[in-house]
Amino acid sequence: MAYNINKIRSYFPVLNQQVYNKPMVYLDSAASAQKPVQVLMKEEKLHNDYYGNIHRAAHFMADKATADFEAVRDKIQKFINAESREEIIFTKGTTESINLVAHSFGEKFLTEGDEIIVSEMEHHSNIVPWQIVAERKGAKVIKFPFNDLGVLQLNLLPKLINKKTKLIAVAHVSNVLGTINPVSEIIEIAHKNNVAVCIDGAQAVQHTTVDVQKLDADFYAFSAHKMYGPNGVGVLYGKKKWLEKMPPYQGGGEMISEVSFEKTTFNEIPYKFEAGTPNITSVIAFGAAVDLLIKAGISEIAAWENELLEYATQKLKLINGLKIYGEAPKKSSVISFNIEGIHSYDLGMLLDKLGIAVRTGHHCADTVMQHFGIQGTVRISFGIYTTKEEIDIFLEALNKVILMF
Ligand code: ALA
Repeated sequence: MAYNINKIRSYFPVLNQQVYNKPMVYLDSAASAQKPVQVLMKEEKLHNDYYGNIHRAAHFMADKATADFEAVRDKIQKFINAESREEIIFTKGTTESINLVAHSFGEKFLTEGDEIIVSEMEHHSNIVPWQIVAERKGAKVIKFPFNDLGVLQLNLLPKLINKKTKLIAVAHVSNVLGTINPVSEIIEIAHKNNVAVCIDGAQAVQHTTVDVQKLDADFYAFSAHKMYGPNGVGVLYGKKKWLEKMPPYQGGGEMISEVSFEKTTFNEIPYKFEAGTPNITSVIAFGAAVDLLIKAGISEIAAWENELLEYATQKLKLINGLKIYGEAPKKSSVISFNIEGIHSYDLGMLLDKLGIAVRTGHHCADTVMQHFGIQGTVRISFGIYTTKEEIDIFLEALNKVILMF
């Protein structure tokens, strides 16, 4: 079935606007994706019709909100093919999901001298939580390096693992390089050595099919706002066998079974990890975003975005002095680049004045910048609504900016 880009775009009226009297071209979906009408309508409907706190109250609206909230858990379970709904924990986003694992898995399973292997291309949210827990427990963080194409050096991994290794933290897709990492192979190597794997899937789930059972992932984290859903909500998938043994991350309402001053007992998973009133509205509206991804088809989305990626990459390579960071054979729809003699920040600012939204800077991935000895890049990233025409408008604007220098 052909990818119906016009239909998809019709769900995102925000894209049809002008900024500085120029047609707005949004090439920053990797930072945060725009929201379709389905998501906005779902939020409005909840507030107009049946908002109430979930799991707690004994009234009609709360019951309906609870049912809708829990139905999204089922939807996410199916979407990533988790074995059970108890393995789906709602969090604030990928960052909180990874902090939860680092804190709780670390508390239970890390001891002094243990090692955590972290890939060199991680977003800060998949490095810093591990450094914090390593400091607390007297453990070490070990670098899993990538080469200059932006490909992880998989052959080195078995040598980095030893008896002290407890966990490997790696992104499914790099937010700077676009590399689609061989997470299946990494997990296989890790499991042969009884090592758990925590995957940052923030840049992957909206672009590629994720089957956590097939991957055999121990933990998989992602955010709704990069999946055309609302802000402030994300998911941690964790294997039951780990989650059941891990201590709670935060204390509060809903995560307990019984509380007294003498002793508190904790609720079952997933509720053990969902203290306090969750982001009810955003979780419920997140369901509408997942519906849209399913309807559009992840394989169809991937094929469309890959076409855009190849088109843009070829055109960019024709520009004198332009260097692309991240040339892995398997890439998602992210291109980071610099142009000789032009600061990435200036490029981004001038592109903005021509209506083009890009991200500039270190992209919360300092270790990637350090690898290449640079301060930052310009990054363009595509979403389900991006068109070839928009890439042409961007290229024309980029050439104009280059002429200014
Ligand atoms: N993590 C987001 C990005 O890569 C914000 O831009």
